[in-house]
Amino acid sequence: MADSPGGKERRVVPVEEEEASGPNGGVAETKGPKHAETETETREQPAAGPKPGQEEQQHEAGGESSTVAPAPADALPHWTQPACHPLQNYEEDFDEDDDNDSALGDDGASSTASLSASILEYRTIHGRTYHSNIGNAEYWGPNDDRQLESMDLSHHAFTLLLEDKLFLAPIPDDVQKVLDVGTGSGIWAIDFADKYPQAEVIGTDLSPTQPGWVPANVKFEVDDATLVWTFRPNVFDFVHMRDLFGSIQDWNSLYRQAYKCIKPGGYIEDFECSVVISSDDGSVAPGMACYDWGRIFHEAGRKMGRPMDVVERGIVPAGLKAAGFVDVVERRYRLPLTAWPADKRLREVGAIQHWAAQEGLEGYAMYLLTQQLKWAPERVQLLLACIRKELRSNKLHPYAWVQVTYGRKLEVGE
Ligand SMILES: C[S@@+](CC[C@H](N)C(=O)[O-])C[C@H]1O[C@@H](n2cnc3c(N)ncnc32)[C@H](O)[C@@H]1O
Repeated sequence: MADSPGGKERRVVPVEEEEASGPNGGVAETKGPKHAETETETREQPAAGPKPGQEEQQHEAGGESSTVAPAPADALPHWTQPACHPLQNYEEDFDEDDDNDSALGDDGASSTASLSASILEYRTIHGRTYHSNIGNAEYWGPNDDRQLESMDLSHHAFTLLLEDKLFLAPIPDDVQKVLDVGTGSGIWAIDFADKYPQAEVIGTDLSPTQPGWVPANVKFEVDDATLVWTFRPNVFDFVHMRDLFGSIQDWNSLYRQAYKCIKPGGYIEDFECSVVISSDDGSVAPGMACYDWGRIFHEAGRKMGRPMDVVERGIVPAGLKAAGFVDVVERRYRLPLTAWPADKRLREVGAIQHWAAQEGLEGYAMYLLTQQLKWAPERVQLLLACIRKELRSNKLHPYAWVQVTYGRKLEVGE
């Protein structure tokens, strides 16, 4: 039962039941998967799942990586993971007319469990840490504090780019269940939960790197979004994704999974950035490191079998439509990469994004270029030094395209 499609096994440890309230108002340090035990269980109940200790995850640290000794799993009680991954094919099981009623067993078993130790076996590659071997996943970005800080900065730039909005989809103000797939530092999920205190927000990621002190209505689960989703059909009002470029082999399958789990009439939104550094005035030109950056990344994505050119290929709108979403709306923005725009808001976006890049550039590049393109680390550092120098010069007007796409699941009978 615990075999994933990737052939890896998950070790499951018993569920912790504790929950401690935080000292200040709505903020609580969650110490167990209590949020999962709400009126309508969000995850499918596990069937005959493995018993604790019955399985050991086979962990191999490949290539030049080494493994960081894991922290004891019970030292991180506020993240959970799905208690099992199903082998059954939900595409077959899913009945479009079955609104919210799961046919699966109601045996009272919890559908999430506290973290297994193997999840914390981060790999170290050239001084940066990366997610443990989990499911089918191969995410190229580090999960260390430096990269998380860069993600947080980008979050502020992205939100400002959207004129202080966390999303564009026309979801109702009384939105109830929300999923943020590949939540990273968890900052989007936390901000959303703050803004919509009545909503129950779940953030999933390969790494349990989100903070412990979060609003009481948000929780985090370690999960590989490229496996069959174990959420119940028709359970979410809104599914959000951001910057999964380079992480997904089969985008159509990802959106099909989301379609299944969204309520009729609910929304999905995906915010994706291009990795190509563009300019309208030719200030980013052939021969420059900034010009080469995107092309190098596209090649690395191709090698990995996980496209980076998601915006260029229109993968999101096509994938959402193919999954069955309707009223698909696509918006494109120029994300300034330095503080060059005359417009005050966009100049601030550029300044923050420049700061984020300084923190994050090495993390974006190191795994992809050394592991996929077989560059020496010194060559990567040289490229990074050139990029930093070019971005610091006042002569460039660089930006990256951002594409925000949302769509709606059909109502029953529509
Ligand atoms: C570029 S970061 C974006 C983080 C966050 N969405 C944001 O915009 O702040 C991509 C995130 O997706 C996560 N990720 C990549 N592949 C994943 C997968 N197969 N399942 C779940 N999360 C994944 C990574 O661990 C990382 O945290």
